[in-house]
Amino acid sequence: MRRYSRIAGTGSYLPPRRLTNADLAAELATQGVETSDEWIVERTGIRARHFAAPDVGSSDLALQAAQRALEAAGLEASQIDLIIVATSTPDMVFPSTACILQHKLGNAGAAAFDVQAVCSGFVYALTVADAMIQSGAATRALVVGSEVFSRLLDFKDRTTCVLFGDGAGAVVLEASDQPGILATDLHADGKHVGILCVPGHVSGGHILGDPLLKMDGQAVFKLAVGVLEEAARATLAKAGKTEADIDWLIPHQANIRIMQSTARKLKLSMDKVVVTVDQHGNTSAASIPLALDAAVRSGRVHRGQTLMLEGVGGGFTWGAVLVQY
Ligand SMILES: CC(C)(COP(=O)(O)OP(=O)(O)OC[C@H]1O[C@@H](n2cnc3c(N)ncnc32)[C@H](O)[C@@H]1OP(=O)(O)O)[C@@H](O)C(=O)NCCC(=O)NCCS
Repeated sequence: MRRYSRIAGTGSYLPPRRLTNADLAAELATQGVETSDEWIVERTGIRARHFAAPDVGSSDLALQAAQRALEAAGLEASQIDLIIVATSTPDMVFPSTACILQHKLGNAGAAAFDVQAVCSGFVYALTVADAMIQSGAATRALVVGSEVFSRLLDFKDRTTCVLFGDGAGAVVLEASDQPGILATDLHADGKHVGILCVPGHVSGGHILGDPLLKMDGQAVFKLAVGVLEEAARATLAKAGKTEADIDWLIPHQANIRIMQSTARKLKLSMDKVVVTVDQHGNTSAASIPLALDAAVRSGRVHRGQTLMLEGVGGGFTWGAVLVQY
């Protein structure tokens, strides 16, 4: 009998400090940076985002999301044998945020590591966990996307600092004789490193290079809409399905216009797209599991439905995971 992986539970967490566009615009104005709610809503669909307190790290947000996912799955942390955290904002250079999370959860012995694929990190992590479960290398995995992207923002650059937020989302993935994850499709093209990056690094006790986010927004936009359609089609083809089989499109939450364009290309109405970017901003690797958990907990996503999860981000990286929930 074929061994699949299936989502046993979801969870998410947003830090309590919420800034509307008006709140952020007022803060930026004190530094001479001009923006407005109208501009941000019209160009991105974002209305608010959450920022973590200075002493809160990705592992703290991940812990809350992971505990909620474990509770939803009816499992204890000790029953998990694989922990993968997708993050570009780790607590430390090393060890991994997954190991720090493991200790906070009270788990010992599970394999634990981070995946770094920026905003595609969650679909990368889910694909790796699925492959490990299918092969028998793991049985119950905790897959988390967790970010404190506010730490990377240049609050003097209005073209980027209004776009991002902090948060975490998690799923418990477990072995099953029923699907589960139906198909996955991952890609990257490193020639686009420069269009979305944080170029700085630590060397000899100093930060060398700029440690704040740089983005060519229009180049990212154009690439994103193309690859999201390709990845969705490739994943559907692998699973022997068509766009008509998708109950919910749960794309990376970066910009409502990218989501609308992807939905149009896949001939899906926006009623079938889970949108949280308005309330969360772009939370990078956390955005897809945050959106998934919001849709599950609000009763929109039901057991048996077909979900297309899609990520795209720095690298350039992109990919999709087709799930029978
Ligand atoms: C960043 C993004 C919202 C910019 O939207 P855009 O329509 O391309 O806007 P432009 O960059 O052409 O800027 C248009 C004008 O708005 C101004 N502007 C930029 N940011 C602004 C802000 N926060 N508030 C007010 N004005 C702003 C620009 O200075 C420019 O002014 P000008 O015409 O006088 O030069 C858009 O390119 C985008 O969403 N790209 C994808 C980003 C993304 O999703 N990244 C993450 C992927 S994982």
